[in-house]
Amino acid sequence: MLDKQLISRNFSLSAQHYDEHAIMQREMADRLFSLLTTYDLQLTTILDIGCGTGYLTGKLAERFPSARVEGIDIAPGMIEVANKLKRENITFKIGDGEDIRGVGDEVWGMGEYDLIVSNASLQWMSVEKVFASVAKLLKPGGLLVFSTFGPKTLSELKECGFKVNEFPDTIAIEGLTKPNFQNIFLASQVSREKFGDVKELVYHLKELGAQTSAGENKFTPAAFRAYKQKYGGADGIAASFELVYGVFRRKPSPAGV
Ligand SMILES: C[S@@+](CC[C@H](N)C(=O)[O-])C[C@H]1O[C@@H](n2cnc3c(N)ncnc32)[C@H](O)[C@@H]1O
Repeated sequence: MLDKQLISRNFSLSAQHYDEHAIMQREMADRLFSLLTTYDLQLTTILDIGCGTGYLTGKLAERFPSARVEGIDIAPGMIEVANKLKRENITFKIGDGEDIRGVGDEVWGMGEYDLIVSNASLQWMSVEKVFASVAKLLKPGGLLVFSTFGPKTLSELKECGFKVNEFPDTIAIEGLTKPNFQNIFLASQVSREKFGDVKELVYHLKELGAQTSAGENKFTPAAFRAYKQKYGGADGIAASFELVYGVFRRKPSPAGV
């Protein structure tokens, strides 16, 4: 069960320095941007779910200057940083990706968006709820383009007894999207990153605001040693990140919404 208050607080606390540490997230955003611009897009309305400091939102607003671009994030601190991005066609709001229709006092319209994106954020939400929300908010034929993390992410930490978030796999994503979306592209790849030691890895996750589950862990010297013995080498320790990318088209005839 994800604790939204804690997630919101942790990401707010990390917001000011987030961009310095979010190298992988930036690469994922660039890849997502390249992926989505391969499609023939006529866009007037775009939504970025879990927009963070607004890196991808800003790129989209620049690439599609006549579109109205909106970014929502559950962490007020992230929205505060994102709001420093001044572009006429962007609006940032505090909002919950699992329940996008009620943002603040407003109720957003059904079938309003041509494109909904989410970069490196869905792992913090119930994808089932987000896909249900997105199905309502996307225009028929509209695109959902996202990246997230798969279950092999931080598998080394998990094996050494640390608690790590649950991540849905591509089979689960396929099943959840099937009723309302056409699967256009879904792929995952595992990237092995190097860190000086386990403390550096944990510090890195903390600086990204991703310490929510890590906070429940007991970082005992024995657990650190076990990680180092299994996954360490002369150049530090390895940590896996499974990166999942998806492109889904909203089916023209709504099923169950
Ligand atoms: C790893 S950051 C990614 C931020 C940004 N998309 C990027 O590419 O850098 C994850 C973001 O998801 C946001 N988030 C987590 N749960 C959320 C929810 N239920 N609704 C909206 N945003 C959420 C966090 O506040 C955080 O800003």
